[in-house]
Amino acid sequence: MTWQQWLTQAVTRLRASFSLSAKLDAEILLALVTGATRTKLLAFGESQLINELHVRLEALLVRRERGEPLAYLIGEREFWSLRLRVSPDTMIPRPDTECLVQCALDLLPPSRVEVLDLGTGSGAIALALASERPAWQITGVDRVLGAVVLARDNANSLGLNNVQFYKSDWFKVLQTQRYSLIVSNPPYIKANDPHLTQGDVRFEPRSALVSGKDGLEDLSAICRGAGRHLLSNGWLILEHGCSQGAAVRALLAVVGFTNIATLRDYSNNERVSQGQWLL
Ligand SMILES: C[S@@+](CC[C@H](N)C(=O)[O-])C[C@H]1O[C@@H](n2cnc3c(N)ncnc32)[C@H](O)[C@@H]1O
Repeated sequence: MTWQQWLTQAVTRLRASFSLSAKLDAEILLALVTGATRTKLLAFGESQLINELHVRLEALLVRRERGEPLAYLIGEREFWSLRLRVSPDTMIPRPDTECLVQCALDLLPPSRVEVLDLGTGSGAIALALASERPAWQITGVDRVLGAVVLARDNANSLGLNNVQFYKSDWFKVLQTQRYSLIVSNPPYIKANDPHLTQGDVRFEPRSALVSGKDGLEDLSAICRGAGRHLLSNGWLILEHGCSQGAAVRALLAVVGFTNIATLRDYSNNERVSQGQWLL
């Protein structure tokens, strides 16, 4: 079978399994397995696919037909122009989260400050901030050891040494440490949300997505704990669901934050809320 013949049948199969990006998915899988660029695949479509590669491609194609995210199949995803390794230990970084990164960059000067990223996952937010602000000292924590290892791996691959990662249940290992800025994209989906049975999220760990009946348990825990870990005038920035803006502003207000505001993402949805700790 040639590369082109494999692509044709893969696109047909992926379309039949409702992939919205069948052609792109097939090209990316073929490029991954052959080591050729997508341009080369199209230019040299008559190249023969050796049996060993065909077997590997078939296994990947079956997983994609079942709906497994392409990022898990190829083991990486781009975030903030950084190529990050991803794994089923944590959520695949989403473009929406770049809104939180921009908000953090806009709030504090580029001079040295201590920053904490809670629920760091692949390290996406911490690494984006570390790459943009070399003087910031950034700590990322996650409850899942596999995520911490992944984030450290990503930091090493990107050559970023102003960021460190620890295993921790929210603030637990941080003792009396205080920060100028705490950021978090915590789990915030309701336990019975029907979206959990659709698309990529079916393959992502529930521990990275779901937060109690109303989706607010972790946002609430972070708001309650943040004051003990913020310097005076420090900021807390939280990503949340597009219908949770009012609830998160209320959570911030009730524990004593001021200068509370919500920002919208690229799709004009309320996505990120922030508050300042003046106490
Ligand atoms: C929505 S994912 C966000 C991952 C990453 N920050 C991003 O934006 O792509 C939430 C992360 O919080 C972590 N997490 C959940 N509960 C936690 C807890 N109690 N303490 C620390 N991390 C937690 C999960 O393991 C997961 O990696």
